[in-house]
Amino acid sequence: ENEMKFDATEPGRNQFSYGGADAVTGAASRNGQAVRGHTLAWHKQVAAWVSQDGVKNNNNYSRRELLDILKNHIFNVVGRYKGSVREWDVCNEVLDDDQSIVRTNPDAYTLRPSIWATHIGEEFIDSAFVWAHQADPEAKLYINDYNVEFAGNAKTEAYYNLVKRLQKSGVPIDGCGLQCHLTTGQLDTLKLEKNIRRYADMDLDCIITELDIALANPHAADALTLQAKEYGAVTRVFLRNDNCPSMLMWGISDNHSWRQNKPLLFDSDLQPKPAYYNVHAQMRLAAERAGQSGIEDIRGDETIVSTRYIDLYGRPTTQNGLVIEVNTYSDGSVKAVKKVY
Ligand code: XIL
Repeated sequence: ENEMKFDATEPGRNQFSYGGADAVTGAASRNGQAVRGHTLAWHKQVAAWVSQDGVKNNNNYSRRELLDILKNHIFNVVGRYKGSVREWDVCNEVLDDDQSIVRTNPDAYTLRPSIWATHIGEEFIDSAFVWAHQADPEAKLYINDYNVEFAGNAKTEAYYNLVKRLQKSGVPIDGCGLQCHLTTGQLDTLKLEKNIRRYADMDLDCIITELDIALANPHAADALTLQAKEYGAVTRVFLRNDNCPSMLMWGISDNHSWRQNKPLLFDSDLQPKPAYYNVHAQMRLAAERAGQSGIEDIRGDETIVSTRYIDLYGRPTTQNGLVIEVNTYSDGSVKAVKKVY
């Protein structure tokens, strides 16, 4: 979560510190895993020598100096992980929370104040992408933000406008990331998918970068089941859209999350939750549909307590024809199997 941020990698000017980031890439390479780099230009977790709060220019750098600082940072960090970081969040959370501007100007967006945006100008984004591309031409480069998941929402539209502008300017951008810090009850898969698909029309990726789904009502009896459903629904959207090649969870177990209310796939004892089983089931189904094998059945032999049927798009259906049978087991876990009746 934090090892590749500015304050971790460059704690003093031109003094780079790669212990944490090396541990991550080392573990990944020993285990055959790919790594996303997060993040190069952000307004938070900026080293204090750049800005005390990520916005103020309390060291009175000139615009030229700030450009040099950002360029040197990007060349060092991206250069070091050339070949071992597959994709970078080049710029993170550059948009302001207030995007009411899109109501009067449908092509507009408002940047948030930051040490980079306020004291360099919007071109810091263009430059950051160009430098990252020069430092590692093979790496995929993304912009990343929150509250930009559902088509129609003002910030989602502003994000789309900004990405369009970057692409039109010839910036080497591969796509945009939707953080997906959600709470149960918020998910609208139609609007999520509509959003992802319009980037496909522009030949851009639209990926899920920081998924977690907190429980809106942690004490409700069906809280974990609802969470499992929503995790499964996001997974299906991910699996059926070719321009959505990555889906990452923002953490592993509930007790190590940055959020309250049990947002992740494993509980505090590192036991898989219903959400885990449903994500797994969706992936297994997709692999089966694609004629692949290799995703193992992960269940023990608990008894089935309830069964429902869904079609291949996740819509409720009856026990008729080709259906997905979704069984909930006595331990709360969920397993889906494809059947023909
Ligand atoms: C969070 C980390 O998870 C925390 O450990 C840290 O204290 C603050 O940052 N959006 C992002 C992430 O892009 O970098 C943030 O990570 C969560 C919100």
